[in-house]
Amino acid sequence: MATSSIPFLKRFLAAPQQVGSIVPSSRGLARALIGPYARHDGPARVLEVGAGTGPVTAELARIICPQDEIDVCEIDDDFAAVLRERYFESGPLADAARAGRARLLNQPMQAIEGEDRYDYIISGLPLNGFEPPLVTDILACIQRLLKPDGTYSYFEYAAARRLLRWSINGKTRRRVTQVSALVGDLIERYEIDRQLILVNVPPAYARHLRFEESKQHEA
Ligand SMILES: C[S@@+](CC[C@H](N)C(=O)[O-])C[C@H]1O[C@@H](n2cnc3c(N)ncnc32)[C@H](O)[C@@H]1O
Repeated sequence: MATSSIPFLKRFLAAPQQVGSIVPSSRGLARALIGPYARHDGPARVLEVGAGTGPVTAELARIICPQDEIDVCEIDDDFAAVLRERYFESGPLADAARAGRARLLNQPMQAIEGEDRYDYIISGLPLNGFEPPLVTDILACIQRLLKPDGTYSYFEYAAARRLLRWSINGKTRRRVTQVSALVGDLIERYEIDRQLILVNVPPAYARHLRFEESKQHEA
């Protein structure tokens, strides 16, 4: 078992809905999630939310340019301690952190203030495990924080919503049906690209959305 899987499993057992997975994402999934940022030109501001033990953080740290800024948000104190030690204190983001270009935000992502702040938001949040009001809050927060032409990338396990809707537990079925309506609507309207990553436990879709059109209507 990879070393990062041990703290992950421990945190999953302590807070299963919040953590939403028993193992970290594979490198293949992490690379698919950072794809739009990896292809960008010019300075960019990036927000990673739900970083866990940092498989996506590691890939971001590998390609961050000197003119870019990155915020890494993680609600869980134990995961935040792992991220601080591995990436921010002496690891690959240490120079950027000292220069004020990389920040670790140990807080719920809903508490991040401001609007139109980021060019890329890359999320590991397990939306399919959350209650519908929390999903609504988080999606509103992502749309608030993303610049009008920004890209929101996230993953969901392949067929997760369909499988959970077959649950014998009526409460789970109702919850997932509501979450599925919220997430499905967003995908239908705003998805610009997606990749199916088979080398991940379990296989997952990396999805990329752009809300440009909806933000222009709001203005
Ligand atoms: C499925 S794990 C993904 C971890 C990592 N990105 C990966 O791909 O392996 C979800 C992560 O989101 C974090 N999380 C859950 N709710 C959050 C919130 N409201 N704000 C920030 N992080 C949150 C959990 O603590 C957990 O680390």
